[in-house]
Formats: sequence, C-alpha cells, structure tokens
Amino acid sequence: MSRVVLVSNRVLDLSKSARAGGVAVVLANIVRRRKALWFGWNGEVKPTGEVDLIRGKGRTATAALSDIEYAGYYLGYANSVLWPVFHNRLDLAKFEAGFFQQFVDVNRRLAGLLKPMLSPDDVVWVHDYDLIPFAAELRRHGVANPIGFFLHIPFPPWQTFMAVPEHKELAQALCAYDLIGLQTKADVANLLNYMSNGVHGRIVPDGRIRVFDRLVSIASFPVGIDMTDFVKAKRGSPLVQSRSSVSRIVGVDRLDYTKGLPQKFKAFGRLLDKYPQYQRQVVLTQIAPPTRETVEGFSDIRHELETLAGSINGRLGELDWVPIHYIYRSTPRRTLGDIYRSSRICMVTPLRDGMNLIAKEYVAAQDAADPGVLILSKFAGAAEEMTEALIVNPYSIEETSEAIRAALEMTLEERRERHGALLAGVRKHDAAAWSQSFLDYLKRVRSTDSQLTESIRPPLEQS
Ligand code: F6P
Repeated sequence: MSRVVLVSNRVLDLSKSARAGGVAVVLANIVRRRKALWFGWNGEVKPTGEVDLIRGKGRTATAALSDIEYAGYYLGYANSVLWPVFHNRLDLAKFEAGFFQQFVDVNRRLAGLLKPMLSPDDVVWVHDYDLIPFAAELRRHGVANPIGFFLHIPFPPWQTFMAVPEHKELAQALCAYDLIGLQTKADVANLLNYMSNGVHGRIVPDGRIRVFDRLVSIASFPVGIDMTDFVKAKRGSPLVQSRSSVSRIVGVDRLDYTKGLPQKFKAFGRLLDKYPQYQRQVVLTQIAPPTRETVEGFSDIRHELETLAGSINGRLGELDWVPIHYIYRSTPRRTLGDIYRSSRICMVTPLRDGMNLIAKEYVAAQDAADPGVLILSKFAGAAEEMTEALIVNPYSIEETSEAIRAALEMTLEERRERHGALLAGVRKHDAAAWSQSFLDYLKRVRSTDSQLTESIRPPLEQS
C-alpha cells in the first residue's frame, strides 16, 4: 500500500484528545489507521516567517505561520474572500489587494517544505479551500505524484464564483489536480457549470472536463464519520441534567454566520409563542464555540445571538426554566456523544454548509430503541443523503418552528423508522468508505490517464 500524504490547513496534535470536529477529526482518523503523513499548519502564529517543522512521531509534519501570513492568507483570502463567496455571501467578501498574493505565497512556502519529504510512490491528498493552489506549487517543484483535492465546503453557483477577481487563477490552480472531489452532486454541477461557462471547458465522452488544455476528473464523495466515536454514548450525562420531563433540543455549530443560528433561535421563540403548552417543557441548548473572531462577519453574529437569546429568555423564562442555554465554548468530543443521546431533537439548520457532520454524529449517538429526531436544513450537503430527517428551509421561521413541533410530537414508531434508515446510511457511508473511494478513484484516474505527462506541468505555465 502506498503512503498517503494528507495536506490540510489545520493539523491536530495526535497526542491530545480532540475538541473540534469537521475536517481535522476526519483526517486524524485516517492517519491513525493507515500508512500516512499529515502535513499543514500547527495553529501557531510566530512574529516572523520562521520555518518550524515538527514531526509528531513521523505521522505529522507541521509549520507555523508568520503574523503577516496569518493576516493575509488565513484571515484574509481564505476566510474573508473564499469562505463567504463559497457560502453564497458575496456581501461579506473583502476583496483586498494583497490577500491573493499572500494566499499563493503561503501555499508556495508550504509546498516547498513538503517537497523534500515526498517519495515517488506517495499519493498526495490536499484538503479544502485554503490550499487550492497547493498542487500547482508542488508541480512547479517537479512533483509528478498523483495529487487529489477535496473541497469540504460548498462550491457556489458559477456566476457567484465569477465575482472573485482571481477566479481564473483559482480555476487554473484546480486543474493541477488529477481529481477534484466535492461533497454533493449539486456542488459538482456548480463546478462543471463554472468550468464550461466561466472558462470555456468542454465535457468529453468519458465524463471528464477538458479545460486549460488539461483533462480533469470531478466527482462527488460525501464525507462520513467514524461510528466508533459515538457507539459508547450514554443518556444522562451530568453536563445535561435537567428535569426528566423537559425535552432538550441540541445544536452544535461554530459561531459562524453560515450556520443559521439567529434563525434557529427565532424559530424556537416562535414555537414557544405559538404553542405556549411547550413553555417549561422544552429547552434549546446551543453549543457555539467562537471561530475567526477578528473577521467582521464572525464577530457580528455573536452580538446578534446574545441579543436574541437575552430577549427570548427575558420575555419567556421563569425562575426554574431558561428556554435557551448557549455556551460559547467547544466541548470535548467524548462528551458530545452523551449530549446528543440525551437530546430529543438535534437542529442542524445552516443557511449553507458543505456537509455538516453533526447531523451524522447525532444519528450515530442515538438509542435505536428510543431515538431522537434530526431537523436538517435543505442547504446542508447532508440533506442530499439524509432524506429521512425533517428537512426544512432555515430561512422560513414558520416552517422551522412547525418542524420542531412535529419532532416533539412524533410517535415512537415514526422516530424508529426514520432513525433506522438514517443510521443505515451513516454506517454504510462512513469516513473509512469515503477515504477509500476517493483514493481508489484517484488511482483509477491516474492509471488510465493518457494525459499524465501533460498533467505534471504547472497549469499556470501552460497558457
Ligand atoms: O471545511 C470547513 C472547516 O474546515 C470545518 O471542517 C472546520 O470545523 C472548520 O472549517 C475549521 O476552521 P478553522 O481551521 O479555520 O478553525
């Protein structure tokens, strides 16, 4: 088996137990299970751009970012341009001069650090929007290995992507990969539309797209979770004690404007106003760890939520009942399972989301004999697969509040039926199946690719 070299913006310390979820946890599981090296940023910001390569028992290699790199690459281009645009929030994008150059420069520096660690038979797998130019930079160093890319966030409609001043450079950089993986079929359609309408790509009979004189494979690989993280979940964790007659609704989302948190609070408030019989009977527990706090859109959301929760709690709360509990801290993953299992409902209601693994984790942690109900936004990637959830439009406060009511009143039989179908999907399409199918596809693409010699040239130099 060849070694897989995973590259992602954030690399976890494998000796510590995880608090975060998402991409980093999925990649940590791959590294623990197979011959692999995981390369990327260690989360440290140093005053100067010193090279700081640490090797965690041969399984990880990480570098720090300088202050300038952190500002321009991470807070700047990745999270003030690509993040809002890819989540359909052009209004929040800050197209500042200099961000893009920093973005390319950091990708170039990191690629240069990885290059000497690569062996000819390694397969390189790059993750997420922060590292789009990474393969082009490796190719520049003459790296001919198979290189795949997986985008964990959504790909936007093609005209939205065209608004990025550097859309063409990004598209050319994407073409340095042998395979581009996306979360959903809808994302694949968006990228193919962009490649055909935005940069005159042409779909060839075998399904690949010819663009910038290269043949590129684009396919969907919905990411899954590792079930074993949740099988030991138990009901009644001391963290979630409340009167047993009170039903808990749980939400776990980073404090991010894409997550639809104000809409969720409003829908819950609407339920309590419209159906007062639920007052004192139900609570909403929202775990919302802060993220990227110095970026404007992310800091505004905290203020908005505090105001909303304060007004709902002040207006409806009683001495022994606070309707909304919100916690601005991350929770260790080992206790998350217990919280999921102790919650009658989980609301995963983002306005836009690549996949959202919380939806899958909640299903995995349930007691199959008496499971809870998942309320899921139609704009989360997970909705393409998890059709047995209660699917809602999070922009409609009315529709979402009615879904909460339906979930509270759902019979045991219906809960079991929906949960059984959801669990079968989560189990079948787990993290191991996801990584295996991507890596198999990458191998197939490379072994049949007659364009191999062409593909090792940096695409930015081809035009
Ligand atoms: O793909 C988006 C994502 O990587 C999530 O998986 C993850 O939870 C989050 O962004 C982490 O962001 P950051 O590394 O910027 O804290």
